[in-house]
Amino acid sequence: THLAVVAARFSCGAPRVGAEQGPQALVDWGVFSDIQARTGYLCSFDSLSEKDTSRNSIESSQNLDANIYEMKKPHAVSLAAKRVSDCVYSHAREGRFVMTLGGDHSIGVGTVTGTARAVRERFDGADLSVLWIDAHADINTPQSSMSGRIHGMPVAFASGLAKSPSKGIFNWITKSHLINLKKFVYIGLRDVDKAEEAIIHQYGIKSFTMGDIRSDGIERIMDLALQYLGDDSPIHVSYDVDSLDPEYAPSTGFPIPGGLSLEEGIYISQRLYATKGLVAMDLVEVNPLIESSRLTTTLQSAASVMKAALGVGYEV
Ligand code: ARG
Ligand code: MN
Ligand code: MN
Ligand code: MN
Repeated sequence: THLAVVAARFSCGAPRVGAEQGPQALVDWGVFSDIQARTGYLCSFDSLSEKDTSRNSIESSQNLDANIYEMKKPHAVSLAAKRVSDCVYSHAREGRFVMTLGGDHSIGVGTVTGTARAVRERFDGADLSVLWIDAHADINTPQSSMSGRIHGMPVAFASGLAKSPSKGIFNWITKSHLINLKKFVYIGLRDVDKAEEAIIHQYGIKSFTMGDIRSDGIERIMDLALQYLGDDSPIHVSYDVDSLDPEYAPSTGFPIPGGLSLEEGIYISQRLYATKGLVAMDLVEVNPLIESSRLTTTLQSAASVMKAALGVGYEV
């Protein structure tokens, strides 16, 4: 197997800097040398950041990014997400497993659209299945968002629910990129805005909250989630590290108490690996500048859920 690692070193969709340093921290932690040593997977690395965006496009995006259309830094985020989408697509199109490291979750517009497009081409128009593991729903539209931050909007843009508000912002998204919200499941929600709650109900989006997990148990929830998605399409998991309880993942921008235990987080990955249908994973919102003294705890947790999704870490 070829594992394509994409370092999406961006934080333009979040209110504070730091998430752009998440990918390097994860790589330095040694997770990929471990994976390579224990699986024999061939790993390749791509690194995308605002610094290597051409000078002209940075300048034009800064000029245009005057908090227009109720969004903060729309041009910078759109450009970053397009680059992520193209990169993920190019690997997924060749049948490689794509592991994208964030970065704030606005890069999710790029990751799932890249995989969705590749899967449509490879599997005769099939829709991708998406699991969004997160404390947050990230489905605000520019109109519903109270923060204007695009890391709270990726699901809306990737599904076409939020339309490109103006030429130049997410107008690279075509029909072939869009994810199908009927093939989409949330796990771990516990901090959802009122407007997001309304959108989830309006579109009948399948959602398993922390309350559901506490009452039914993660085993049952994974049975239901996988049953809902069916076994006929490839799976992409977009894993926000803040789905884990802050005890296990303190170094993140929006920690919310009452999250997944590390054991539950790993279990989700194991179940996804066991389907044999997992084709891509994102691990986002690791911010080394937050709770720096406990960064190693965060990296250890992130590494464990990543490895479990690749089937590493539990053989005796
Ligand atoms: N719902 C809030 C917003 O729209 C918070 C989103 C947090 N998202 C994240 N990827 N950490 O701004
Ligand atoms: Mn998120
Ligand atoms: Mn989140
Ligand atoms: Mn509800």
